[in-house]
Amino acid sequence: MLLHNNLDGGIHQLIIDRTDKKNALNTKLLVQTADCLDDLVAQKARVVIIAGNEGNFAAGADIDEIAELTPQQALLDARVDAWRRIRHCPIPLIACVQGYCLGGGVELLLSCDFAIGDETAKIGLPEVTLGIMPGAGGTQLLPRLIGKARAAQMVFSGQIYDAKKMADWGVLADIVGEGEDVFAACHKIAKKIARNAPFAIYQAKQSLLQSQQVGQEDGMKFERQVFSLLSSTQDKKEGISAFKEKRHAKFQGQ
Ligand code: COA
Repeated sequence: MLLHNNLDGGIHQLIIDRTDKKNALNTKLLVQTADCLDDLVAQKARVVIIAGNEGNFAAGADIDEIAELTPQQALLDARVDAWRRIRHCPIPLIACVQGYCLGGGVELLLSCDFAIGDETAKIGLPEVTLGIMPGAGGTQLLPRLIGKARAAQMVFSGQIYDAKKMADWGVLADIVGEGEDVFAACHKIAKKIARNAPFAIYQAKQSLLQSQQVGQEDGMKFERQVFSLLSSTQDKKEGISAFKEKRHAKFQGQ
């Protein structure tokens, strides 16, 4: 089951709640996550924090489902579409990582814009220990984030790494100090994001997604085009007026 909390100021929290299976991601959960994100986009949500219940993020794709998966299903079933929808969600997504974050859990983390963890985080790609390999970004999104050599080490070894190593390598953008609440840390950064100009954030996310897909010059052109779109917005006028008048900007997303 997926739990949804509507927090203040357009910030939402999704919690993977399948604790008897260490929050393993079955098709139902993945499709629920993608559907919920689509709904939140329609509701003009500003930031979504994705977490797991009872101290684990997600211990991977559901191994019982993987056991039954045919080659045709692996290419065409609802999971493929759900992963694509999560990856392309136009709202900033923050992964809030505690405990086990394995296999598909790492791929969910990689489908978010960044991840913050605590010292309990245990992160790895154990697929090869099951005779399979990552299939939702472990060999594509991960090398773009941390470089091919470190990604290869994670993918080939199936090893589980601690939070400090994962923060050193950049899988986690940040870790909170011992005893600190990782959700509070995610909420704090979400509030900062939600204060900023909504259309600027939307375009910046589109541009960041492009950086993962196209060559540098094409990416630079895309960035300049979306930057130019922001030149005539009300929010730009408001942001610059607020700066000059030494007050907080009140952005309308226009
Ligand atoms: N898919 C389906 N079920 C899973 C699962 C997964 N990815 N991960 C854990 N579970 C289930 C276990 O089978 C067990 O179910 P049971 O109580 O019906 O036997 C339950 O969750 C609790 O897990 P358990 O292994 O008893 O807990 P643990 O604390 O000893 O170990 C893990 C936790 C995460 C280290 C261990 O469950 C594990 O290695 N899971 C698989 C990780 C993996 O390979 N992920 C990639 C999948 S492609």
